[in-house]
Amino acid sequence: MRTSRKEKVLEKLINSKFFISGEIISKELGISRTMVNRYIKELIKEGFEIDTKNNKGYKLKIVPDVLYKPLIENKLENKNYEIVILDDVDSTNNFAISNIQKFPDRTVVIAKNQTSGRGRMGRTWISEKDKDITMSIILKPNSPIDNLFKYVVYTSLAVFKTLKEFDIENISIKWPNDIIYKDKKLCGILIETTLELETKTIEAVIIGIGLNVNSRISNELPTAISVSEILGFEVKRNIIIAKILNIFERLINSNFESVLEEWKQKIAYLREYINIHLPNGEIRCKFLDISKTGEIIVEENGTIKMYNSGEISLSSSL
Ligand code: BTN
Repeated sequence: MRTSRKEKVLEKLINSKFFISGEIISKELGISRTMVNRYIKELIKEGFEIDTKNNKGYKLKIVPDVLYKPLIENKLENKNYEIVILDDVDSTNNFAISNIQKFPDRTVVIAKNQTSGRGRMGRTWISEKDKDITMSIILKPNSPIDNLFKYVVYTSLAVFKTLKEFDIENISIKWPNDIIYKDKKLCGILIETTLELETKTIEAVIIGIGLNVNSRISNELPTAISVSEILGFEVKRNIIIAKILNIFERLINSNFESVLEEWKQKIAYLREYINIHLPNGEIRCKFLDISKTGEIIVEENGTIKMYNSGEISLSSSL
């Protein structure tokens, strides 16, 4: 998707340390002065603070928490990411899957408003318009995808490390891929794939990330919490998204074994008694380890068992 003219005007403002004149913007972008004025007015209406001086032009002073492509791109270490921001969509994963042919590797679809978010195990994902992060990273690796669990590890660790950069304590990764604060859910991840029809091989991996950022989610869902509810102030989503993508890119280029070791250290409830909620009931067991391919290894009544999906929670003592 092409960068809009308004985004290009914003890009000019972001990239100039000093005042930039309307004339220069209009010349460089090939649009009229009137259009430049119009876009500047729209940005001000959206909450941008722009210093305007008659003989000097414009200078960006304060950036609000509004999702904008140049505000993310500007902070990206790897410029190969293609950012697509949508106003309203049912689900960013659905949108990515239905348009998968059009999108190159490392496209990131972000929604300002996701209306029917999907979660794991057929659940729904609730988020608030203009407050949270709902996004899908599309990967089309050149080599065949052998192990989807790798993406669970890369993504949950990238989100975990991003949140740590905001000095959030008491967070951990709850198997398989939730980020929790104490026992409340901050982030959920839904990884899906599309298949190449002829070869039946994986064509793309779609990594859906739902992160509660500035919503008052705990009012609606007592088992969930948002970043701003923990910190007590609002956080800019463009910055969080860029940080997640930067860390994610570094991790997917690192040795998986060492990333896995780091990930394991962030896992919640390890060596504790847990309940695994399965479609056909619940079991109580001791959480021993996680296998290289992502199964949870537990001890249940003296027997070692492995499970590859389910929902876990801390069990009260016997
Ligand atoms: C879960 O914990 O159950 C996973 C939740 C995943 C939610 C994200 S929000 C962006 C992307 N689009 C969706 O419809 N779902 C994922």
